[in-house]
Amino acid sequence: MAQAYKMYINGQWIESGSGETFTKINPATLETIGEFQKGREMDVEAAVNAAEDSFKSWSETPAPKRGEILFKIGQLLQQNKEELAKVITQEMGKVLVEARGDVQEAIDMTFLMAGEGRRLFGKTTPSELKDKFAMAVRRPLGIVGLITPWNFPIAIPAWKIMPALICGNTIVFKPSSDTPLCAIKFVEILEKAGIPKGVVNLVTGPGEVIGLHTARHKKIRAISFTGHRDTGLEILRAGGVKRTSLELGGKNPIIVMDDADLSLAVDGVIWGGYGTTGQRCTAASRVIVHENIKNEFEKMLIERIKKLRIGDGLDPSTDMGPLVNKAAQEKSKTYSDLGLKEGAKLLIGGKAPNMKGFFFEPTLFTNCNIDMRIAKEEIFGPIVSLISAKNLKEAIEIANSVEYGLSSSIYTKNISNAFKAIEKLEAGLTYINASTIGAEVHLPFGGIKHSGTTREGGWTAIEEFSELKTVYFDYSGKLQKAQIDVD
Ligand code: UN1
Repeated sequence: MAQAYKMYINGQWIESGSGETFTKINPATLETIGEFQKGREMDVEAAVNAAEDSFKSWSETPAPKRGEILFKIGQLLQQNKEELAKVITQEMGKVLVEARGDVQEAIDMTFLMAGEGRRLFGKTTPSELKDKFAMAVRRPLGIVGLITPWNFPIAIPAWKIMPALICGNTIVFKPSSDTPLCAIKFVEILEKAGIPKGVVNLVTGPGEVIGLHTARHKKIRAISFTGHRDTGLEILRAGGVKRTSLELGGKNPIIVMDDADLSLAVDGVIWGGYGTTGQRCTAASRVIVHENIKNEFEKMLIERIKKLRIGDGLDPSTDMGPLVNKAAQEKSKTYSDLGLKEGAKLLIGGKAPNMKGFFFEPTLFTNCNIDMRIAKEEIFGPIVSLISAKNLKEAIEIANSVEYGLSSSIYTKNISNAFKAIEKLEAGLTYINASTIGAEVHLPFGGIKHSGTTREGGWTAIEEFSELKTVYFDYSGKLQKAQIDVD
């Protein structure tokens, strides 16, 4: 019998009111990870009530004191890094080296936000009148609903939970049903560090029930969601006027110019395209290559792809783990078949290897064009589409032709090319001579167009999770009228 795990509401580990559970399996071995609570609306209600009750004392706790708890969480994450990384690999499949990076990202974000407890800057500015003081200070939003994906099952919860906590909010946390154990391990650390009861409440279960109920809930003041674009749109509709921050997909290009260091660019495509088995919203799924070097670059890529070892991410010799689940594996197959039908040329891969587990071969298509679905839709698998361009202008037009605009990259030794790309690429992130993945926590992160509505991380995380209250303090002792008493 698999271990049964519980949800965390109001400081208690409890079963769902539904009395139902769901099973989660390891995508590499197909072994059962555990049984998890299948939360229902009533569990969200309990979580909201707990978050409401704890809000007063948490929001009144001085932010530097809240920061001290975050420091403790950061230390515990460091101490438990290896154990957490293993759980990530077992639960969603990424290789252990990357899973350690996932935990490290959470550690970095936690320490960053712990320090923010002594900043949380507002602004002061002079008043237009004498003896009057003007400023804007930060206030918490209230209860926030955080809905997180499985591809960074420790890092992304930290990106949302840490800034939400330091700003004084209380939380309903709904993780992906593909990574409930990571969420539980993470919340156990918060509990151990001394987060007061009711401040963070974990509800596991189906997104279409508890995710939507959270998005719709009148007492929840803001939603922060990372995941698929279509789900994001549903959340936006359900949330109404609620503050909603969406971090959605990408179809991120790497432009390789004919003056680039080609072996560096190959490293970037392999890392960005096949790292995390292509399951990052920042994954490099399009390579826009200058026509002068197309043939040479294709050959170099194929050589490297051939060497990628597929397997269980716990095995240190594995370069690429499985996809997260069967549906993801089928999606990669469907898109790969579609690429062939659309007339793209398959250079390598294109099928699931004959192995137990949800594996898919690293796949490279060439001779793609901007009208092919394979080259414009997000696949979230190890499939890269190569498109050639005759110059930088055309490369940028191709890069900008998709609906998404999250990450982008250019490999070039020419500084004019680099600055033109910075100016013209329609994306929230542009990397020069580096891949599309690997954003650092202390800078804004997010996309434009259909990639999202917000910037997370860095100082923008504080903006996401706080309101500005404008304060006018008149100490003149008489009625002063702005805009009227002008002389
Ligand atoms: C995501 O895939 O949802 O820049 C986030 C990166 C990581 C975050 C990816 N730091 O690739």
